[in-house]
Amino acid sequence: MSEPIRIGLLGRGTVGGAFAELVAQRADAVQEVSGRRPEIAGVLTRSKGDAAQILEDSDLVVELMGGTEPAREHVLAALRAGKPVVSANKQLLAQHGDELFEAAETAGVQLRFEAAVAGVIPVIRVIQESFGATEIEKVFGIVNGTTNFILSEMASSGSAYEDVLARAQELGYAEADPTDDVNGADAAAKMAILARLAFHTPVSLDDVDFEGIENVQPDDLAYAKQLGLSLKLLGVAERRNEGISVRVFPCFLYRGHPLAPIEGPFNAVMVEAPAITEVTMSGPGAGGMQTASAVLGDVVSIVSGEAPVHRVRERLPVVRDVASAFYLHLEVADRPGVLSQVA
Ligand SMILES: NC(=O)c1ccc[n+]([C@@H]2O[C@H](COP(=O)([O-])OP(=O)(O)OC[C@H]3O[C@@H](n4cnc5c(N)ncnc54)[C@H](OP(=O)(O)O)[C@@H]3O)[C@@H](O)[C@H]2O)c1
Repeated sequence: MSEPIRIGLLGRGTVGGAFAELVAQRADAVQEVSGRRPEIAGVLTRSKGDAAQILEDSDLVVELMGGTEPAREHVLAALRAGKPVVSANKQLLAQHGDELFEAAETAGVQLRFEAAVAGVIPVIRVIQESFGATEIEKVFGIVNGTTNFILSEMASSGSAYEDVLARAQELGYAEADPTDDVNGADAAAKMAILARLAFHTPVSLDDVDFEGIENVQPDDLAYAKQLGLSLKLLGVAERRNEGISVRVFPCFLYRGHPLAPIEGPFNAVMVEAPAITEVTMSGPGAGGMQTASAVLGDVVSIVSGEAPVHRVRERLPVVRDVASAFYLHLEVADRPGVLSQVA
């Protein structure tokens, strides 16, 4: 009988609670595919648990606390102690990626974070492993389920942003404080992570220009409908002028675009490269059990074998001044000469 894999669980909220449940339910299956049976060795919350003791008692640490501190401190301590780490924390990776990847490489242990971007969609694995040797040109998509739900609801009901946001909160698709979702910061953190992996270059949250959906009016969606377009909050990371550009912005998509039918809290990510043409992945972008399932997948990967290593291959400059199509919505008096003044 092989030794169990002892997991130190940091955070037992929506995702951490679901993860603990999933470990109990799927322990046999994990043992079958990885050779070791998972067990929770200790749990840290605000009110219980001793981080140092949990670290000592664990073979692997799962960080599901959120926030950057003390999550950063605990993750670094685990990596430096030679313990692999799984995290779902996009802000931590987007703001402290350099330090964390370096600590993982120095210690020779795995740092996995599939659940940090696009929930259960295995986009990290695909970019880092399946396309690890591919010259990726562009990664883009809908990486925030809250804003996609709000825009879908506004488009189908014609309701105002504030009313739909309140409904999203009632249904649990938006948090009590939705700021980071609706202003684009959450999507920006995820795009920083995807850009880093796709282009093998250091990218942090500060390198991403972002805007959110707070100023979208029902009118914008009504005009889009008339023109056969749909409005999405898009994250785009692409090679531009010998550098890279990473940004988040509301964008009209033509009917027939692979991302146009992605509705509600779903996410979708597209990858473009000459060698692969174009690949689209879609699925639930969040949810306790869905996210926990991606976390457990990372645990299985760690126990099963070799790590994908994130190594900086070149330092590409960030290009901030990019030419792009724009949409302007102007309310003007219906008088001769108005359009020429605008022009
Ligand atoms: N929810 C989702 O659908 C989703 C999807 C993708 C990724 N994620 C990511 O998953 C992570 C966890 O999210 P969540 O929704 O599960 O959060 P949550 O429900 O707020 O749970 C956070 C947990 O961490 C603990 N915690 C927070 N700060 C702590 C501290 N300073 N010391 C000790 N324990 C602390 C909390 O303790 P108490 O129980 O004592 O409060 C709680 O158990 C975040 O990084 C989030 O971005 C979440």
